[in-house]
Amino acid sequence: MKRHGANREQIIELLEHEGGVTEQSVRKVSGETGVPEADIWGAGMFYSLINQPGKRVRVCDGLTCQMMGAEQLAEDLKESGKEVERVICLGQCDRAPASLDETMNLVTYGKTTHISPENSDLPMNLGGAEDMAWSALAKAREMGAEAVIEELKAAGLQGRGGAGFPAHFKWSSVRQQVDQERYVVCNADESEPGTFKDREVLLRRPHLILEGLAIAAHVVHAKDIFIYIRGEFTNEIASLKKAVAEAEAMLGDVTVHIAKGHGAYICGEETALLESLEGKRGMPRLKPPYPTEQGFRNKPTLMHNVETIACVPSILRRGGTWFQEQGRTEAGSKLYCISGHVNNPGVYEAPLGITLDELVELAGGYDGNPNSFSPGGASSGFLPMKYRDLPLDYKSLADAGSMLGSAGVVVLNDTIDMAQAVAWQLEFFERESCGQCAPCRIGTQYLRRQVHKYLETGTVDSLKMTSDVSWEMEEGSICGLGMVAFKPLQTAQEHFPEAFQKRSEKQ
Ligand SMILES: Cc1cc2nc3c(=O)[nH]c(=O)nc-3n(C[C@H](O)[C@H](O)[C@H](O)COP(=O)(O)O)c2cc1C
Ligand code: SF4
Repeated sequence: MKRHGANREQIIELLEHEGGVTEQSVRKVSGETGVPEADIWGAGMFYSLINQPGKRVRVCDGLTCQMMGAEQLAEDLKESGKEVERVICLGQCDRAPASLDETMNLVTYGKTTHISPENSDLPMNLGGAEDMAWSALAKAREMGAEAVIEELKAAGLQGRGGAGFPAHFKWSSVRQQVDQERYVVCNADESEPGTFKDREVLLRRPHLILEGLAIAAHVVHAKDIFIYIRGEFTNEIASLKKAVAEAEAMLGDVTVHIAKGHGAYICGEETALLESLEGKRGMPRLKPPYPTEQGFRNKPTLMHNVETIACVPSILRRGGTWFQEQGRTEAGSKLYCISGHVNNPGVYEAPLGITLDELVELAGGYDGNPNSFSPGGASSGFLPMKYRDLPLDYKSLADAGSMLGSAGVVVLNDTIDMAQAVAWQLEFFERESCGQCAPCRIGTQYLRRQVHKYLETGTVDSLKMTSDVSWEMEEGSICGLGMVAFKPLQTAQEHFPEAFQKRSEKQ
């Protein structure tokens, strides 16, 4: 007899297989898994790729796509008879505007992407060939777990998923847990507007990721690795599946599971990701306990971003000190995404601490007269060009009231209305709030509404309570989304006050 909840982890995949959430599919999945229908409705309705069955074109709503004409694209597609849905950032900012067709295939209308040219001195070297012999894993086995962690420490590797937390602490913490059932989880849910670096690693260097994960599993004694990858990344999922099949002999008794996301940005937050992996709504958990203590299935779990893991093989092959020296103001090289008003948008591997001007030079120069930039995705807000020589690293940007985050740099030239840019970012947060805490659920809605009111009426009165509400959000939210969702408005008001007065003066 089936136990209720026994197969809960499969329900989202099964709903997708059935074509999405409908009365029939929910009943069928409940029958197959023993999970109550109410739970299946609750989980399924959370995910935008399955909660409204039916085929339609999905047009990206991210900041860069909006700047590059997404609105017009959506109108044109509607006029040609297509059913159109506006969706969160598709992670194609370098080729903006972007859309997915009815069968989830990517259609882009902008430039082609660029990457750093092949250079074997770069730790990730996106343009280079894969090491199919996995020499770093062999070395890790020779060195032993503690020596591997010492090498990560010498490398000064900080997590590349946004927070910049030193990687070696997490590896040691998982090893110190009493529970011997442990997991490794790779966060490939990349969805922050402006960010598309993991996409290129997944496409071009999947073996680098798998080798890094195998080293992690060896060190923390995990037998199962889960890669949670955003569902819209069709080509990247195929690339990863091919690499997993090729790597079978190297992986030994470790199993790699590929779990697809289903269209919820918040599932990039590590504990929301774990909930989602367990077949639930992707709602962040309260921390502590941290995933290293109680993660997947409440067991010790080592979680890392794709790029963090992709740095590990070269750290072991060439040494922690070598990696550390590849950075300028902080350790190592970094994959910077750059899009918006630059000539050659793409992913450039550069020393951590490169400046905006230097990065844009790699990207072929500015397109038009630059006015502002968003250094690390929507969560980082906007900075004026007086910061063009600031090192793009974790500390310098935090000191400037922003953040490096996922290093999704977007340049805005002086044709963009800053208040409108703020409204685009706020729409994103409002739509992607999971809704479990009031300050975030209500605050994201309130801020977006007030900025729209300002754009429509030009009256500054509509903005007078926004800083109080922002404070509530920062102080009262469970996770990083609510804690930073006001940043686009706060930073733009601080650095571009004229953008929030002009219209009222005109009245
Ligand atoms: C709202 C939100 C979204 C996030 N999205 C991602 C993401 O898409 N990919 C990612 O690696 N980390 C993301 N993070 C950070 C993760 O919670 C976590 O810190 C990271 O996966 C840890 O890996 P690292 O130590 O290698 O950086 C997000 C955090 C928040 C608060
Ligand atoms: S802060 Fe927002 S996204 Fe995070 S848990 Fe609360 S409601 Fe959900």
